Amino acid sequence: MNVESTKGLGLSAGLGRDEIYRVCEAGYNEVANKIVHHPAMSELEKFGGIIFSRPLSRPEMALFFATIWAFFKDVPAGIVALAARVTDEWIKEDMWNGTAKAAHILYASVDEYGLHQHSKHMLPTHHQMFKQLTTHLGLSDTELFNPQYILPEGTAMGNNTHRMYRSEYLGEALGFHLASEMTSSREFQIFLKGFQKYAEEYGLVDEDDPVLAFFAIHCEVEPMHVATGREIMISYLEKHPNIAPQAMRGALAFMDGFEQMFAALNRRLA
Ligand SMILES: [Fe+2]
Ligand SMILES: [Fe+2]
Repeated sequence: MNVESTKGLGLSAGLGRDEIYRVCEAGYNEVANKIVHHPAMSELEKFGGIIFSRPLSRPEMALFFATIWAFFKDVPAGIVALAARVTDEWIKEDMWNGTAKAAHILYASVDEYGLHQHSKHMLPTHHQMFKQLTTHLGLSDTELFNPQYILPEGTAMGNNTHRMYRSEYLGEALGFHLASEMTSSREFQIFLKGFQKYAEEYGLVDEDDPVLAFFAIHCEVEPMHVATGREIMISYLEKHPNIAPQAMRGALAFMDGFEQMFAALNRRLA
């Protein structure tokens, strides 16, 4: 199915519920396939090749962490903004289920904000884990915020994240979010493996050193985030099939920026 062809789909087209779901699932698959086969994924693998081959020097670590921070800093609030928008939009048409639909997005925020064991206590947020790790590695805020280390492609990813999650086209935001979750899944496995491989050089007790929590936690939660990203995308396609081209656009905006960011890092670290 071509995403363009979903335009005008719906109950009015005389399709049964199951049939609609299948068409929307195919629309989702089309976006997901574009993400998985985007050249950004090979740039990411290339980056993996570099960090598996040797430990990063201190200025290289500064470059890596300062650049990804310029991007990651905007992720949690972006997800919350998108969840609020989905709630607002959905309750206009389906009052009692708006929050339930938005929960698929908000679920990722629960992890970002350290709330997944809220009945017991609050856990460190992903941002706090990032800080714990970079502090352990000896990187100061001055280095992390030093424009000399922040590649412009990382800043562009942060700016895109801020803008796209709040895009006036909800489909774009959902596509962008899906791409973010799908790339995270692989990205953090690579980061974790690279740092575990040179545990001694990075001053880690062993491969399971808790200071690697920032990487390890993402490896645990991302499959669930992808599953919820899929659910909300299919739900929205069922309701508004015309968002399919927007979703593709949003996913590609993420992937293009992600490719540029890793290509820039790879050039500097090669
Ligand atoms: Fe995170
Ligand atoms: Fe995630």
